Amino acid sequence: MKKVLVARRAPAAVVEKLASHFDVDLHQGEVPLAAGELRARLQGMAGAYITGTERITAELLDACPDLRAVCTMSVGYNHIDLAACTARRVLVTNTPDVLTESTADFGFALLMATARRMSEGERLLRDGRWKSWAWDFLAGSEVHGATLGILGMGRIGQAIARRGRFGFGMKVVYHNRSRLPVDTEAELGASYLTKEALLRQADHLILVLPYSAESHHCIGAPELALMKPTATLVNIARGGIVDEEALADALRENRIAAAGLDVFEGEPRVNPVLLTLPNVVLTPHIASATMPTRLAMAHLAADNLVAALTGAKPLTPLNPEVIPA
Ligand code: DGY
Repeated sequence: MKKVLVARRAPAAVVEKLASHFDVDLHQGEVPLAAGELRARLQGMAGAYITGTERITAELLDACPDLRAVCTMSVGYNHIDLAACTARRVLVTNTPDVLTESTADFGFALLMATARRMSEGERLLRDGRWKSWAWDFLAGSEVHGATLGILGMGRIGQAIARRGRFGFGMKVVYHNRSRLPVDTEAELGASYLTKEALLRQADHLILVLPYSAESHHCIGAPELALMKPTATLVNIARGGIVDEEALADALRENRIAAAGLDVFEGEPRVNPVLLTLPNVVLTPHIASATMPTRLAMAHLAADNLVAALTGAKPLTPLNPEVIPA
């Protein structure tokens, strides 16, 4: 029987499914395995069932030559060296589509909470600092009818565009590496802008682009300087896309109005300055966290692993070129 490592706790039905095909080693701990532990646990394993918290590097692959498939329960795969996997004919899969709508729901919720100062209001109320109604008390910025800027117009970006355009009557503008076909733009009611124009025009800017060397700190001091002082910034992509020091400075000096962050550069560590600022809504990387969505992701990752190691076609491969014809 082939051996697989399930590197994080997973739903019982998923572990059972994997155990009906493979000899499963399950890491039960709440804390991810350290790099050395992961390498040790992967010895002799044909498959790795991971999440976004395990890094698969070229060095790890060289130390684990039996590994044939890496299946991540995440849509993002910046934690996996895909080129190194492909070069070693290790199949990689992720979990797109099943999380699109719930992640878009969360992105929109975070945008609303940020623009309408919900966390600030709740903290004040819980601390007993609520004195009275006043005309300008916790007055935030408008969401309906405002200009929604989307940086990264993949599946999740498009699902957010629909919410903004058809739910809230927003003007939707976007920037993406490649422009969408005109009929998709028309269907979404979204207009393409250069990145600079997007930064200048957005009332609410949401980041939904993949993280890579190219997108590292693509929102830093120069980009924040282009944004409106009344603008909000929401990041549900990856922490490294934003230069957190520059963002903290901009928020402290009210050069932008507010930020909503679900992802951080050094997760689970959060920049201590951000923790002190009132105009930031902080959530712990939970954009896809509804039970139905997480179950769908967990099962898709497992189905991919079963297919990859039993000669069937995985559902969502990232490097299909390594699948034998
Ligand atoms: C994803 O699916 O990429 C989420 O960010 C969870 O890692």
